[in-house]
Amino acid sequence: MDAAYALQTPQDSVRLYGDWAPDYDSGFAAEQDYQLHAHVARAFHSAGGQGPVLDVGAGTGLCGEVLARLGVGPVDGIDISPEMLAMAQSKKVYRRLTVADLYAGVPGRRAAYAGIVSSGTFTNGHVGPEVLLDLLAVGRPDALVAMSVNAHHYAAKGFAAVFDAMAGDRLTGLSLMQTRIYGEQGQGDHAKDLAFIVTFRLL
Ligand SMILES: C[S@@+](CC[C@H](N)C(=O)[O-])C[C@H]1O[C@@H](n2cnc3c(N)ncnc32)[C@H](O)[C@@H]1O
Repeated sequence: MDAAYALQTPQDSVRLYGDWAPDYDSGFAAEQDYQLHAHVARAFHSAGGQGPVLDVGAGTGLCGEVLARLGVGPVDGIDISPEMLAMAQSKKVYRRLTVADLYAGVPGRRAAYAGIVSSGTFTNGHVGPEVLLDLLAVGRPDALVAMSVNAHHYAAKGFAAVFDAMAGDRLTGLSLMQTRIYGEQGQGDHAKDLAFIVTFRLL
Protein backbone atom coordinates (compact mmCIF):
# COMPACT_ATOMS: atom_id res chain seq x y z
CA MET A 1 0.00 0.00 0.00
CA ASP A 2 2.88 2.41 0.62
CA ALA A 3 3.88 2.09 -3.05
CA ALA A 4 0.30 2.63 -4.20
CA TYR A 5 -0.23 5.68 -1.97
CA ALA A 6 3.05 7.17 -3.21
CA LEU A 7 2.06 7.15 -6.90
CA GLN A 8 2.30 10.54 -8.55
CA THR A 9 1.19 10.23 -12.15
CA PRO A 10 -1.23 8.10 -14.17
CA GLN A 11 1.79 6.42 -15.78
CA ASP A 12 2.98 5.40 -12.30
CA SER A 13 -0.39 3.63 -11.89
CA VAL A 14 0.01 1.84 -15.21
CA ARG A 15 3.38 0.46 -14.08
CA LEU A 16 2.40 -0.45 -10.52
CA TYR A 17 -0.90 -2.11 -11.38
CA GLY A 18 0.60 -3.84 -14.41
CA ASP A 19 2.90 -5.70 -12.02
CA TRP A 20 0.33 -6.10 -9.28
CA ALA A 21 -2.59 -7.43 -11.36
CA PRO A 22 -1.87 -11.21 -11.23
CA ASP A 23 -1.55 -11.22 -7.41
CA TYR A 24 -3.97 -8.42 -6.51
CA ASP A 25 -6.88 -10.68 -5.48
CA SER A 26 -5.00 -13.62 -3.99
CA GLY A 27 -2.25 -11.48 -2.41
CA PHE A 28 -3.33 -7.98 -1.45
CA ALA A 29 -7.13 -8.38 -1.26
CA ALA A 30 -7.15 -11.75 0.50
CA GLU A 31 -4.23 -11.12 2.85
CA GLN A 32 -5.33 -7.62 3.86
CA ASP A 33 -9.00 -8.63 4.13
CA TYR A 34 -9.92 -5.86 1.66
CA GLN A 35 -13.61 -4.97 2.05
CA LEU A 36 -14.12 -1.61 0.33
CA HIS A 37 -15.42 -3.02 -2.95
CA ALA A 38 -18.14 -4.91 -1.06
CA HIS A 39 -19.10 -1.84 0.98
CA VAL A 40 -19.48 0.20 -2.23
CA ALA A 41 -21.50 -2.48 -4.04
CA ARG A 42 -23.81 -2.99 -1.06
CA ALA A 43 -24.29 0.77 -0.60
CA PHE A 44 -25.23 1.06 -4.27
CA HIS A 45 -27.63 -1.87 -4.12
CA SER A 46 -29.30 -0.90 -0.84
CA ALA A 47 -29.90 2.65 -2.10
CA GLY A 48 -31.87 1.16 -5.02
CA GLY A 49 -29.11 1.27 -7.63
CA GLN A 50 -29.78 -0.39 -10.97
CA GLY A 51 -27.94 -1.05 -14.21
CA PRO A 52 -26.51 -0.16 -16.53
CA VAL A 53 -23.61 0.70 -14.20
CA LEU A 54 -20.13 2.04 -14.86
CA ASP A 55 -17.43 0.75 -12.46
CA VAL A 56 -14.72 3.44 -12.39
CA GLY A 57 -11.22 2.10 -11.77
CA ALA A 58 -12.70 -1.39 -11.95
CA GLY A 59 -9.31 -3.05 -11.42
CA THR A 60 -9.57 -6.83 -11.22
CA GLY A 61 -13.37 -6.64 -10.98
CA LEU A 62 -13.95 -7.18 -7.27
CA CYS A 63 -16.77 -4.64 -7.09
CA GLY A 64 -18.38 -5.99 -10.27
CA GLU A 65 -18.39 -9.48 -8.78
CA VAL A 66 -20.33 -8.31 -5.73
CA LEU A 67 -22.75 -6.32 -7.91
CA ALA A 68 -23.37 -9.44 -10.00
CA ARG A 69 -24.07 -11.48 -6.84
CA LEU A 70 -26.57 -8.80 -5.82
CA GLY A 71 -28.28 -9.04 -9.19
CA VAL A 72 -27.19 -5.61 -10.43
CA GLY A 73 -26.24 -5.30 -14.10
CA PRO A 74 -25.18 -4.89 -16.77
CA VAL A 75 -21.88 -3.49 -15.49
CA ASP A 76 -19.19 -1.87 -17.64
CA GLY A 77 -15.75 -1.04 -16.31
CA ILE A 78 -12.96 1.41 -17.06
CA ASP A 79 -9.42 1.42 -15.73
CA ILE A 80 -6.02 2.73 -16.75
CA SER A 81 -4.39 -0.70 -16.39
CA PRO A 82 -4.94 -3.27 -19.15
CA GLU A 83 -3.51 -5.98 -16.92
CA MET A 84 -6.02 -5.27 -14.15
CA LEU A 85 -8.87 -5.29 -16.68
CA ALA A 86 -7.66 -8.62 -18.09
CA MET A 87 -8.21 -10.08 -14.62
CA ALA A 88 -11.66 -8.48 -14.49
CA GLN A 89 -12.49 -9.89 -17.92
CA SER A 90 -11.74 -13.41 -16.74
CA LYS A 91 -14.51 -13.13 -14.12
CA LYS A 92 -17.15 -12.76 -16.85
CA VAL A 93 -19.28 -10.32 -14.88
CA TYR A 94 -18.68 -7.22 -17.03
CA ARG A 95 -20.48 -6.37 -20.27
CA ARG A 96 -17.68 -4.14 -21.56
CA LEU A 97 -14.23 -3.17 -20.25
CA THR A 98 -12.31 -0.17 -21.54
CA VAL A 99 -8.77 0.98 -20.85
CA ALA A 100 -8.94 4.69 -20.05
CA ASP A 101 -7.12 7.32 -18.03
CA LEU A 102 -9.69 9.36 -16.10
CA TYR A 103 -7.41 12.39 -16.52
CA ALA A 104 -7.63 12.09 -20.30
CA GLY A 105 -11.42 12.14 -20.45
CA VAL A 106 -14.01 9.47 -19.81
CA PRO A 107 -14.89 7.44 -22.90
CA GLY A 108 -18.43 6.43 -23.77
CA ARG A 109 -21.75 7.99 -24.52
CA ARG A 110 -22.92 10.86 -22.34
CA ALA A 111 -25.89 10.08 -20.05
CA ALA A 112 -25.53 6.33 -20.73
CA TYR A 113 -25.55 4.95 -17.17
CA ALA A 114 -28.22 4.59 -14.48
CA GLY A 115 -25.45 4.06 -11.94
CA ILE A 116 -21.78 4.80 -11.30
CA VAL A 117 -19.69 2.95 -8.70
CA SER A 118 -16.05 3.25 -7.75
CA SER A 119 -14.03 1.52 -5.04
CA GLY A 120 -10.45 2.26 -4.11
CA THR A 121 -9.74 4.59 -7.03
CA PHE A 122 -10.26 7.95 -5.36
CA THR A 123 -7.35 7.53 -2.99
CA ASN A 124 -3.86 8.83 -2.18
CA GLY A 125 -1.66 8.96 -5.27
CA HIS A 126 -4.49 7.95 -7.61
CA VAL A 127 -7.44 10.06 -8.74
CA GLY A 128 -8.65 13.37 -7.31
CA PRO A 129 -11.90 15.37 -7.47
CA GLU A 130 -10.89 17.24 -10.61
CA VAL A 131 -12.12 14.37 -12.82
CA LEU A 132 -15.61 14.31 -11.30
CA LEU A 133 -17.42 16.76 -13.59
CA ASP A 134 -16.34 14.92 -16.73
CA LEU A 135 -16.94 11.52 -15.15
CA LEU A 136 -20.46 12.31 -13.98
CA ALA A 137 -21.46 13.33 -17.51
CA VAL A 138 -21.77 9.63 -18.39
CA GLY A 139 -24.59 9.29 -15.83
CA ARG A 140 -28.22 9.84 -16.70
CA PRO A 141 -30.32 12.36 -14.78
CA ASP A 142 -31.35 10.56 -11.55
CA ALA A 143 -28.43 8.10 -11.84
CA LEU A 144 -27.20 6.80 -8.48
CA VAL A 145 -23.51 7.22 -7.64
CA ALA A 146 -21.73 5.22 -4.89
CA MET A 147 -18.00 5.88 -4.69
CA SER A 148 -15.37 5.43 -2.04
CA VAL A 149 -12.95 8.21 -1.20
CA ASN A 150 -10.04 7.51 1.15
CA ALA A 151 -10.64 9.69 4.23
CA HIS A 152 -7.18 11.27 4.20
CA HIS A 153 -7.45 11.96 0.46
CA TYR A 154 -10.95 13.44 0.95
CA ALA A 155 -9.57 16.14 3.23
CA ALA A 156 -6.24 16.64 1.46
CA LYS A 157 -7.76 17.13 -2.02
CA GLY A 158 -10.78 19.20 -1.03
CA PHE A 159 -13.55 16.79 -2.05
CA ALA A 160 -16.03 18.51 0.30
CA ALA A 161 -15.73 21.82 -1.56
CA VAL A 162 -16.13 20.10 -4.93
CA PHE A 163 -19.26 18.23 -3.83
CA ASP A 164 -20.64 21.41 -2.24
CA ALA A 165 -20.14 23.29 -5.49
CA MET A 166 -22.06 20.60 -7.43
CA ALA A 167 -24.88 20.25 -4.87
CA GLY A 168 -28.25 21.48 -6.09
CA ASP A 169 -26.97 21.97 -9.61
CA ARG A 170 -25.38 18.67 -10.64
CA LEU A 171 -26.19 16.36 -7.71
CA THR A 172 -28.64 15.90 -4.85
CA GLY A 173 -28.98 13.77 -1.71
CA LEU A 174 -25.27 13.68 -0.87
CA SER A 175 -24.55 11.21 1.92
CA LEU A 176 -21.23 10.20 3.48
CA MET A 177 -20.72 7.00 5.44
CA GLN A 178 -17.33 6.36 7.04
CA THR A 179 -16.07 2.80 6.92
CA ARG A 180 -12.93 0.72 7.47
CA ILE A 181 -11.21 -0.24 4.19
CA TYR A 182 -9.97 -3.58 5.58
CA GLY A 183 -11.56 -6.21 7.81
CA GLU A 184 -10.27 -7.73 11.02
CA GLN A 185 -7.53 -9.74 9.25
CA GLY A 186 -5.86 -6.60 7.83
CA GLN A 187 -2.27 -6.10 8.97
CA GLY A 188 0.35 -3.36 9.02
CA ASP A 189 0.28 0.42 9.03
CA HIS A 190 -2.82 0.73 6.84
CA ALA A 191 -4.98 -1.91 8.52
CA LYS A 192 -7.21 0.69 10.16
CA ASP A 193 -7.39 3.13 7.23
CA LEU A 194 -10.77 4.73 6.67
CA ALA A 195 -12.78 5.74 3.63
CA PHE A 196 -16.03 7.54 2.99
CA ILE A 197 -18.67 5.84 0.90
CA VAL A 198 -20.16 8.83 -0.88
CA THR A 199 -23.61 8.38 -2.40
CA PHE A 200 -25.76 10.86 -4.32
CA ARG A 201 -28.07 11.15 -7.29
CA LEU A 202 -27.35 13.14 -10.41
CA LEU A 203 -29.62 15.98 -11.48
C1 LIG B 1 -6.79 0.23 -5.42
S1 LIG B 1 -7.22 -0.21 -7.08
C2 LIG B 1 -8.97 -0.54 -6.89
C3 LIG B 1 -9.48 -1.51 -7.90
C4 LIG B 1 -10.90 -2.04 -7.63
N1 LIG B 1 -11.90 -1.03 -7.84
C5 LIG B 1 -10.99 -2.61 -6.24
O1 LIG B 1 -11.73 -2.08 -5.40
O2 LIG B 1 -10.30 -3.61 -6.00
C6 LIG B 1 -7.21 1.35 -7.94
C7 LIG B 1 -7.48 1.24 -9.43
O3 LIG B 1 -7.49 2.55 -9.99
C8 LIG B 1 -6.90 2.48 -11.27
N2 LIG B 1 -6.44 3.82 -11.65
C9 LIG B 1 -5.45 4.54 -11.09
N3 LIG B 1 -5.31 5.71 -11.72
C10 LIG B 1 -6.23 5.75 -12.71
C11 LIG B 1 -6.57 6.69 -13.74
N4 LIG B 1 -5.91 7.87 -13.85
N5 LIG B 1 -7.56 6.39 -14.59
C12 LIG B 1 -8.23 5.20 -14.49
N6 LIG B 1 -7.95 4.26 -13.56
C13 LIG B 1 -6.96 4.53 -12.67
C14 LIG B 1 -5.77 1.48 -11.08
O4 LIG B 1 -5.30 0.93 -12.31
C15 LIG B 1 -6.42 0.44 -10.17
O5 LIG B 1 -7.01 -0.62 -10.88
